[in-house]
Amino acid sequence: MSDNSLYFKRSVLALAGIAIIIYGANIFFTSSVTPNTIDTSTLEDRIKPIGQVYIEGDIDVNVVMTAKPKTETKKLRSGKSVYTASCAGCHNIGVAGAPKFGNKTDWASRLKRGMDDLVKVAILGKGAMPPKGTCGTCSTSELRAAIEYMVK
Ligand code: HEC
Repeated sequence: MSDNSLYFKRSVLALAGIAIIIYGANIFFTSSVTPNTIDTSTLEDRIKPIGQVYIEGDIDVNVVMTAKPKTETKKLRSGKSVYTASCAGCHNIGVAGAPKFGNKTDWASRLKRGMDDLVKVAILGKGAMPPKGTCGTCSTSELRAAIEYMVK
């Protein structure tokens, strides 16, 4: 009889042990996959592709076309700096009959033709006056600014 009761006690203990293990395993595996606890707020971020492949025609042409080249966004040089760098050499002292800087009598008759015409002549050159007054990189508005600076 005593053997039987010992066997019984062991069986109960073993069953209790197995029950505890199953119960524990159940909590362990189910608690971590409860739908309510999954954080989906960053899900899109986490599963999005690392890079994107562009196939010809995919690229937004409008964006590429409206991106301005660097030369257009660069700041305009002031009339003073253009004059000092490119025009002063001749126009300061009137080399080869160049109308002198700030000299009213030299410029009076020329100004009568209008600023637009002076800019045009400055771009094309005239006599000893080289095209664009040697400032090959000058824009029309930069040349105009230089002329406006030197006729004052
Ligand atoms: C190599 C010398 C020289 C340089 C450099 C020069 N000029 Fe002249 N420029 C002249 C001479 C000479 C004349 C007179 C031309 C004439 O009337 O025949 C003149 C005339 C002009 C006139 C009057 C044109 C007209 O219709 O009568 C303007 C405007 C002018 N220059 C602007 C400029 C500007 C702006 C620069 C600099 C970006 C410049 N020049 C650089 C020699 C020069």
